[in-house]
Amino acid sequence: MPESKQPKKTSASTSQSEPVHGASDFLVVSNRLPVDRVSNGTDDAGWRRAPGGLVTALAPVMAARDGGWVGWHGAPDETLEPFHHENMDLIPVPLSSDEVELYYEGFSNSTLWPLYHDVIAPPEFHRTWWDSYRLVNRRFAEAAAGAAAKNATVWVQDYQLQLVPSYLRQLRPDLRIGFFNHIPFPPPEIFAQLPWRQPIIDGLLGADLIGFQRPNDTANFLRSARRFLGASVKAQQVHVRADDGRTSHISRAEPFPISIDVGQIQELAARPDIIARSRQIREDMGNPKTILLGVDRLDYTKGITHRLKAYGELLHDGIVKVEDASLIQVASPSRERVESYRHLREEVEGTVGRINGQFDTIENTAVRYLHHSYPVEEMVALYLAADVMLVTALRDGMNLVAKEYVAARGDNTGALVLSEFTGAADQLKQALLVNPHDIDGLKATIVRAINLPKTESSRRMRAMRKQILSHDVQRWSEDFLATLQIDAVRDDS
Ligand code: F6P
Repeated sequence: MPESKQPKKTSASTSQSEPVHGASDFLVVSNRLPVDRVSNGTDDAGWRRAPGGLVTALAPVMAARDGGWVGWHGAPDETLEPFHHENMDLIPVPLSSDEVELYYEGFSNSTLWPLYHDVIAPPEFHRTWWDSYRLVNRRFAEAAAGAAAKNATVWVQDYQLQLVPSYLRQLRPDLRIGFFNHIPFPPPEIFAQLPWRQPIIDGLLGADLIGFQRPNDTANFLRSARRFLGASVKAQQVHVRADDGRTSHISRAEPFPISIDVGQIQELAARPDIIARSRQIREDMGNPKTILLGVDRLDYTKGITHRLKAYGELLHDGIVKVEDASLIQVASPSRERVESYRHLREEVEGTVGRINGQFDTIENTAVRYLHHSYPVEEMVALYLAADVMLVTALRDGMNLVAKEYVAARGDNTGALVLSEFTGAADQLKQALLVNPHDIDGLKATIVRAINLPKTESSRRMRAMRKQILSHDVQRWSEDFLATLQIDAVRDDS
């Protein structure tokens, strides 16, 4: 993949970025830029496209429409000039170390993240975090306002930037603004806890179109808009009032379940070297009858401890033998400076150590625990090696791992155990659905997956593949953008 040249560093200050005026007809705004820095050992050598479906889906739109992307480049206390990479203008937004702590680790990931995921961990409410969130959202909005051409379309991504739509509308009323929330939106009874619930709803309503993963998230948002803002909601539309009481614009909320780059996963799953690698993985694991697989960011929403508990009890009860069924658990490092994530890591690693200490043999290991991130090629080899995929999230906006597993299983083999609390469960109805809090139910479902008759697993996988193959991430972005264009001129009331 070609790499772009290193952009010029200006200063280490945290002052607002100087906007580049009016070049982009289509802009994406997200917390992180879709590129990773490449190092040649001693020096920064350039940038490489980050893995992920969103950037792949939007690449053709970027190329066709003078596209740009506004986001943080990942290094605190560094200001970079905008640069060009693979048909996109990249507009880096600087964050100071303090802002990383207050806006990103604080308000985004210790207030909003737990609040929006069913308060699995207690959210913390701090005014200094909120102040930083507002300031940083304003900076992102200013960067986008400076980069967008007249009447451009701007698509803002995710919970870190919920104030950007309204700031942007104030700065640039000519723009068409979309927002997509990648994580769940909580019911009003939980959202009510947020001291800044009103300005957050106000911020989102700056968008012409607000996309959510599930119909439930959409309904939760509309109920909150009515309850906390007294907004006039008709069907999926909110009539947003200006100060003089007149409707300034109509904001529409709708579900758009995100998906994956199906073509890429299928292509990799058919590659001889990746198939050979998957065989090697099975051999290296001691050729057990069944390989169970979990792949998650190390996050408390993913239900990793519930999964380990169920598997550990199955070994303890003698229902599963370590020679017959081993678990590979990939847990990629995430948000490692946030307290609740540190605790989780200790808990997971302690549990894995206990299970392995008790059940490993010289030849076989119960849990092969990998605290790493892997390239997509290795992930696909793991999907091919796994007989049973375990997705036991306690709450998840979508869960793309479940979709990737299904996309990789071209021969219709394999079983997917899927939490009913994921967005993916709405689409993958033929998975073996579980409530991960019900440990006995989870154990029974794992045993069922291990022993699933071939005809049944094939029937289920075929049906799930039919859904995934016709709903890829390209279709998701096309649907969203088509609705955003149409919505600017449509009023259903
Ligand atoms: O699902 C929300 C999300 O922000 C994803 O977009 C991202 O892959 C993940 O969480 C981790 O994000 P980060 O490492 O930036 O906190």
